[in-house]
Amino acid sequence: APIKPPEFKACGEAREVATGDLLDVNCCPPVSDNIDYKLPQFDKLRVRPAAHKVTSEYLAKFEEGIRRMKKLDKDDPMDPRGFTQQANIHCAYCNGAYDQVGRKDLDLQVHNSWLFFPFHRWYLYFYERIIGKLIDDPTFVLPFWNWDNPKGMQMPRIFDNTRSPLYDENRNQAHRPPAIIDLGFSGATEDLQIVVNNLTAMYSEMIRSVNSTTDFMGMPYRDGSSPNPGMGTSERGSHVAVHAWVGDPRNKYKEDMGSFYSAGRDVLFYSHHANVDRMWSIWRGLKTDVPKEINDPDYLNAAFLFYDENKQLVRVKAGDCLDYKKMGYEFEKVDTPWLNYKP
Ligand code: C2O
Repeated sequence: APIKPPEFKACGEAREVATGDLLDVNCCPPVSDNIDYKLPQFDKLRVRPAAHKVTSEYLAKFEEGIRRMKKLDKDDPMDPRGFTQQANIHCAYCNGAYDQVGRKDLDLQVHNSWLFFPFHRWYLYFYERIIGKLIDDPTFVLPFWNWDNPKGMQMPRIFDNTRSPLYDENRNQAHRPPAIIDLGFSGATEDLQIVVNNLTAMYSEMIRSVNSTTDFMGMPYRDGSSPNPGMGTSERGSHVAVHAWVGDPRNKYKEDMGSFYSAGRDVLFYSHHANVDRMWSIWRGLKTDVPKEINDPDYLNAAFLFYDENKQLVRVKAGDCLDYKKMGYEFEKVDTPWLNYKP
């Protein structure tokens, strides 16, 4: 059977995943009744831009949206659209605050399995709509951090302005721009060598090391499964590398980006994941022999709960987010030089 959506009223303590330490945070969301979500109609696809290329007009809207989300934290801490409430979604789904329904001995965990891509796609989808609602612009889109392209292999500048609501001081200070990100954990020190290693690592996790659907998507995870059956190549590779690279080594658990419970407190998290989401969509379009679809009903019917932009708690299924264009967005077209980067 598929993973069931969590019971919010049974939400409990959060623990650090690696150590099992109890965390000093309550990441449980407000409790309310849920309804099944229906994707709304739209006229035009909204195009998520590459974060290093956005216009100042776009940036002003994005900053205003985040400012209003952060203001909700103070004005109404129980508003599920507030910045901290949104960050806590990640904590609740990833740090053991939820059990699988009716299974006290099994945590619900959305990483390290085939739930990774669909969970984060839905999470970003509602985050984006909430920002749009708060600035009264339903066409708002999140920018993606284009770390797979040499032009995007630094922390995007818009996140590094200390006066901007997009800034987070809980980041590795040695990795502020113009430091080049290391996606392949290569430890190389020459910028040019890091870039080349990154392109090779991307080719590997998207193509060369992917011999089956689960190699890329992650292992099956069903009702009654133990958590963490296994990550796909993308989750384990560039995805984890970016978290580790941005997280602040001065903090115990490398908060913010270096730990599940705190990652969503950095606005950069959502742009990182917008690119992870883009990688999923690119992979699905590759003309390789590996089948791109998972037809298992336990995958398609796995369900999550999120608050939408109107504070309505909604139930969504993995199978309803496979075609992102039906969700109303696409990605700005940028080059993918790693596609031809066979080692
Ligand atoms: Cu839910 Cu990048 O982790």
